[in-house]
Amino acid sequence: MAAAGAARVLYAVACGCPPAGDLGGFAGFARQQGWDVCVIATPDGTKFLDAARLAEQTGHPVRSQYKNPGEPDVLPPPDAFVVAPATFNTVNKWAAGISDTLALGLLNEAVGLGLPAVAVPWPNAALARHPAFRRSVAALRDWGVRVILDPARLPGAAPGQPVFPWAELRAELASLA
Ligand SMILES: Cc1cc2nc3c(=O)[nH]c(=O)nc-3n(C[C@H](O)[C@H](O)[C@H](O)COP(=O)(O)O)c2cc1C
Repeated sequence: MAAAGAARVLYAVACGCPPAGDLGGFAGFARQQGWDVCVIATPDGTKFLDAARLAEQTGHPVRSQYKNPGEPDVLPPPDAFVVAPATFNTVNKWAAGISDTLALGLLNEAVGLGLPAVAVPWPNAALARHPAFRRSVAALRDWGVRVILDPARLPGAAPGQPVFPWAELRAELASLA
């Protein structure tokens, strides 16, 4: 937890799909709202974002791998999490308690610690109908994770380019403070 008077720390987790490339806009907004933002990418998430630019913007390195034994933590401890975008893969692994990426390890700890978290899953419309995904979303909600998900607005749900719900996430951020 942040010390009294210090900025609260938001871990922004980005997974491996195209909206990860737009995380900088949300990170800037969160910083304006007083959050100290640290970006955590999954290994596949790093392919979709500009880690150097995000590090410059946030003042923290973008982490995607577990540290080596004996190495110090380079990020301040988190007060809250957003997972945006959250892939089909990471949503299902998170709900199953799997920690095979740094991002998942931190997200699993967040559940155990009861830290506030908002997830924005971004599977395509077909994957969103998979029973495992539906179970995973239900489990995350049951554990207190806020999930922003409108199946009608996912990739493949309707003709045209889908719009990632950054606006809804920005609105939800206030509830994490
Ligand atoms: C170009 C490209 C686009 C992708 N888009 C999506 C997507 O929109 N949603 C999704 O859930 N997975 C998408 N994937 C698949 C994920 O990258 C893949 O499942 C990966 O294992 C996710 O790893 P992560 O959950 O650790 O980030 C995409 C993959 C590629 C190569």
